[in-house]
Amino acid sequence: MNETLEGILKEVHQIRDQIKDVETLENFRVKFLGRKGLLANLADELKSLDDEKKKKFGYQFNLAKKEIESVYEELKQNLVQEPKVRFSFRHPGQKPLVGHLSPISLALNQAIKIFTNLGFKTILGSEIENEYYNFDALNIPADHPARDLWDTFWLDQKKEEEVDKKNQRSKKNKNKNTDRYLLRTHTSPSQVHYLEKNFPPFRIIIPGKVFRYEATDKTHEFEFHQLEGLAIGAGANLAELKGVLEKFFSEFYKKNLKIRLRPAYFPFVEPGLEFDVECIFCLNQKKKGCAICKQSGFIEIGGAGMVHPFVFKSVGLDSSKNYGYAFGLGLERIIMIRYKINDIRLFHSNDKRFIEQF
Ligand code: PHE
Repeated sequence: MNETLEGILKEVHQIRDQIKDVETLENFRVKFLGRKGLLANLADELKSLDDEKKKKFGYQFNLAKKEIESVYEELKQNLVQEPKVRFSFRHPGQKPLVGHLSPISLALNQAIKIFTNLGFKTILGSEIENEYYNFDALNIPADHPARDLWDTFWLDQKKEEEVDKKNQRSKKNKNKNTDRYLLRTHTSPSQVHYLEKNFPPFRIIIPGKVFRYEATDKTHEFEFHQLEGLAIGAGANLAELKGVLEKFFSEFYKKNLKIRLRPAYFPFVEPGLEFDVECIFCLNQKKKGCAICKQSGFIEIGGAGMVHPFVFKSVGLDSSKNYGYAFGLGLERIIMIRYKINDIRLFHSNDKRFIEQF
């Protein structure tokens, strides 16, 4: 009988690992613990034994029964509690996606740092301007051909007569086109705002978004960033401008670069000029000139010049006592040069393959 009991126990332990669902568990219960199961059969046999054997074997029987019952309970618990998704604290988690600054913000932060070290304070202007600040105060009247340069996103157009009436009522704004709003086409209007409220001397930069109503292509976007500079006060002449730009670009591109100034026309500077920076790609080659600088050794960057007397007059400053320079450059442009990016539209394309490279 003992052997039978041992055989049963052996079998229990052999098959317990195979019990994976409710059905096999039930078969297990019926087979071993059921009313007609193996244990029940043995219990029947037990009854026919004499008292001494009954006592001895009964003890073994009860131990075995308890063991099988506890195996059954354990299997049942496992089936009920087995979670669908296992979770372990030791399991390495999924890395959360962490963003980073865009190439524009990175370059802007760097530019601000360099200009701060050169004594320039950073000012933020407004992206919505009115006609007066964007054009008129900068010597670009309505009929001036230079306005064609800045094709404009106008906001909330008012009828000409309404504008005229309102201008007549307000003495302060008499003859000022302050009623028609637009998305600024350049950062230069912030020069006027700053000059109106601050007395020279000062040196400031004004970085920010600008908007132009034009078709996009590899080198044109309708929304991009400019960095404007304005220095008014003793010593703020073209020699200083050249030195400041030279220092800025040498630090920005981490190379010793020369600046080239060329005469150009902007209505709010006189003399006006365009500035080029030495090509960072063929800089140290014996024979200067490469495909990027089109064999010239220099790359065009932006506009600059001495602040026009008209602008001083606009803000009520005496142009015989004040002088200074202004410059403006496209932020995307100097980033494109740094990384040899050949399409400005990539900056706003939201393409992760592009953005994740920085
Ligand atoms: N505002 C000019 C532009 O948008 C750039 C410029 C700024 C030129 C300052 C001269 C002086 O093209």
